[in-house]
Amino acid sequence: MACGKVTFLIIFVIFCAFLNVNGQKSVVELNEGNWSEILKGEWMVEFYAPWCPACKALDQKWKEFAGLSPGLGIKVGAVDVTTSPGLSGRFMVTALPTIFHVINGEFRQYKGSRDKDSFTSFVEEKKWEQVDAVPSWKSPNSVQMSIVSSFF
Ligand SMILES: *[C@@H]1O[C@H](CO)[C@@H](O)[C@H](O)[C@H]1NC(C)=O
Repeated sequence: MACGKVTFLIIFVIFCAFLNVNGQKSVVELNEGNWSEILKGEWMVEFYAPWCPACKALDQKWKEFAGLSPGLGIKVGAVDVTTSPGLSGRFMVTALPTIFHVINGEFRQYKGSRDKDSFTSFVEEKKWEQVDAVPSWKSPNSVQMSIVSSFF
């Protein structure tokens, strides 16, 4: 009956591929070339590194949160600081993972608990309004920060 198992496996793989294409919206990868996409609209962006255990713990929850993002009217992004080191300088990321809420180019660091419900209510109930935005002089798209990022 090995044949049956193989057939089942093939069907399963096709099914998974199908789910991937038609299923939930996934996390948008951002890098040094296209990070400025986050200046448009509303985003939640995670800075992570593949070696960071706390980032791995967040990974699944972040993906689930991304699945909810179309309903929330936001985009969920992720920056791998090992492949985009300039961005961690630009955004002054000193700990991993770091999460930012971005709306119309305003940045706020997310310091709540790292679970899907907290992320959702942060956006849905506009809890970010209670958090001070990163002052404009160190806003990641300012000239000063472009200079800082060139050192990384
Ligand atoms: C940025 O580039 C990466 C790698 O090419 C790509 O996977 C990602 O979708 C791009 N993000 C945006 C917002 O265009």
